[in-house]
Amino acid sequence: MTVALTVVARDPGVRRVLDVDPGTTILRAAHAHGIDIDAVCGGRGRCTSCRVKFVAGTIPPATLGDRVQLGDDLVRDGYRLACQWAVTEPVTVETAPPLDERAFQILGAGATPSRPGFKIDAGIAKQLVRVELPREEHHQTSDVEQLLAAVGAREADVPASVMQALPQAIRDDAGGVTVTTFAGRILAVERGDTAAMKFGLAIDVGTTTVVSTLIELESGEQLASVSGLNPQAVFGGDLMSRIAFAQFNPGNLRKLHTRIIGLLNQHIEHLTRESGVLPKWIYKVVVVGNTCMHHLLLGIDPSWVGLAPYAPVMRHAMVLPARELFLKVAPEARVCLLPLVAGFVGADAVAVALATRIHDGEDLRVAVDIGTNGEVLLGSRDRLWACSAPAGPALEGGQIRHGMRGARGAIDRVTVDDDLHLHTIGEAEALGICGSGLIDLVAGLLDAGAIDWTGLIQVDDRDGLPPRLRDRITMRGEERTVIVARAGEAGAPREIVLTQDDVRQVQLAKGAIASGIAMLQRVARIGPDALTELLLAGGFGNYVSIASAQRIGLIPVLPRGTVRYVGNAAALGAQLCLLSEGERALAERVAERMEHVSLATHPDFEEIFVDAMNFPRPA
Ligand code: FES
Repeated sequence: MTVALTVVARDPGVRRVLDVDPGTTILRAAHAHGIDIDAVCGGRGRCTSCRVKFVAGTIPPATLGDRVQLGDDLVRDGYRLACQWAVTEPVTVETAPPLDERAFQILGAGATPSRPGFKIDAGIAKQLVRVELPREEHHQTSDVEQLLAAVGAREADVPASVMQALPQAIRDDAGGVTVTTFAGRILAVERGDTAAMKFGLAIDVGTTTVVSTLIELESGEQLASVSGLNPQAVFGGDLMSRIAFAQFNPGNLRKLHTRIIGLLNQHIEHLTRESGVLPKWIYKVVVVGNTCMHHLLLGIDPSWVGLAPYAPVMRHAMVLPARELFLKVAPEARVCLLPLVAGFVGADAVAVALATRIHDGEDLRVAVDIGTNGEVLLGSRDRLWACSAPAGPALEGGQIRHGMRGARGAIDRVTVDDDLHLHTIGEAEALGICGSGLIDLVAGLLDAGAIDWTGLIQVDDRDGLPPRLRDRITMRGEERTVIVARAGEAGAPREIVLTQDDVRQVQLAKGAIASGIAMLQRVARIGPDALTELLLAGGFGNYVSIASAQRIGLIPVLPRGTVRYVGNAAALGAQLCLLSEGERALAERVAERMEHVSLATHPDFEEIFVDAMNFPRPA
C-alpha cells in the first residue's frame, strides 16, 4: 500500500502527487520522481538545503535535528528537513524555492589567457578539397578511397559517422568539401567551404559550479562563456556525499552521469545560440575537474575513490569522440580529458598549474584553489607538490544555519566596530550569509573579542563589548549565538544568526585549507619566509577579502610575499589546452611531476590540523 505525497514547488509552478512506499523519506521520494530538492550534506541532516514546508496533513513534531538546523522560527512555520522525514500518511509539502542561478556569483572564465611560451595550435585543421567522384563502373573505387586520395589520410582515420555523411556531401557541392582533421583523423566532411569555422569548448567541472567557454580556435577569441551550478549537487554538496550516493548503486551513478552531461548540453545550446556558432563546428572540447567529477562525467564508478587508499580508476589523459558522451557538438569532435594526479587531486589541479605557471617559476609559490573540494599546490621549477583540501560546502554557505550561496540577498561583506554593518549582493534585503560574508563576520568578531581564538562565542565576557555589539551576543537555549540581523535590519524578513556550530563549521573548512598549505610547507621543509607569492584561485577565492581570510587563518600572512587573485585558474588552464596541443602535452608532464601529498595519512596531520582549526591569536 502506498501513501500520497504531494509536492508543491512554487517556482517553477509544479504540483505532483507521488505514490510513495510508507517509510520513504520525502527527499528520497522526490528524487526518485525527478523532483529536485537540494541535499547539500547528502541527506545526513546536517544542513538546511532540503527543508520543506508542511502545508497540508499532519505536521510532524520537530526533531532535535530540525530545531538545531532550522531554528525555532522555521520550525514554527512548519518547516522540516526532507531527508529526515519518512512519509507515513498523506501530506502536502512545499519545497524551498530554488535560488536564482543567474544571481549567483560564479566566476566566469575571463579573457583568453596568454602565457610565456604559449602559441595557438589547437590541432584542428580544416581544408577545402575536391573529391574526384568514382565515374566508371569497371574501375573499382569508393567514395572513401577518393576522399583519402584527396586528403592523404588512411582508411583507419575515417570513422563510420563520417562515412554516413560522405556520399551526399561530396555530390552536393561541385565547389568541393571541407575536411576537418585532428592528428590525422578525419572528424567531419562538410559540403562547401567552411574552413573558417573552427571552434572549441573549455569546460571546468567543479563540485559546485561548472564553467564552459566557447572559443574560436584560430584566433583564441573567447566568444561566450556560461556558468551554472553543478546539478549533481542535489544529491550531495561535497565529494564524499556524492560518492556515497553513487557507491555501489549503478542507478544513482547513472543519475549523476546524466545530470552533468545534461548540463553540458544546456551550456552548448546556450553558447551556440548566443554566438551564432553551429554546434557541428565545435571540434575540440577540453574538460578539467577533480577525480570524482572526472569519473562521474565518464560514468565511471567512483566508489573506490571514496575508500582508502582512494585510488582513481584511471589517471591517464584521454581523448574520445563526443558521441560517446552524447555531447551535442560535432559527433567526432575530440573530447580531451587532462590527466589526474592521485586521490582527489585531479585534472583541475594540473590546469591550475598550467594557468599559474607555478611549475615553472624560479621561486617557491603556493596556489590555493578554494572550493568545496579545495586544492593546494606548492612548488617551483624544481619540485611541485599538491594536496586536496576538502573544505566542504561551509565556505559556500552550506551547512551553516542561515548560510546561502553567493546569490542576490546574501550578506557578502561585513564590518564590525561597535556594531555589525552588513552589505548584501544586489543591495537586496538580507536573506542569509554567503562565504565571503561569513569570513568577514568571523574575522570582525575575532578582532572585536566577541569570539576567542578557540572559536568560542564570548557570551560570558560580552559585557566588555560595545553595547550594541554586546546585545547581539546571546544564548539561545543551549546555544551560543550572534544575532547578525534582527528581523527588519538590512531588510531581513526574518532573523539571521551565526551559531556556535556555524563557527565550528568555518573552523573545519578553513582548517582544511590552512592545513593543506601548512602540510605542503612541512613536506617541502620550508617556512613561510620561503614563499614569495600566494595565488588565490577559484570561484569563491576571488570574492573573499584577503585581509579577513588572513585574519581567520584561512591563508597565511606571508612575511615577504604577496597574495594575489588569479581568477578561475582551472578554467584558464582548460582554455590553454584547448588552444594549444603543446599545452596539452605539457599538462601530462606537469601531472607526472606533481607529487601528491595525502594529508590524512601523514603522521603530522593531526597536529597540523588541530593547530589550523584554531584562529590565529592577535599579535
Ligand atoms: S539536512 Fe537534509 S540534505 Fe542536508
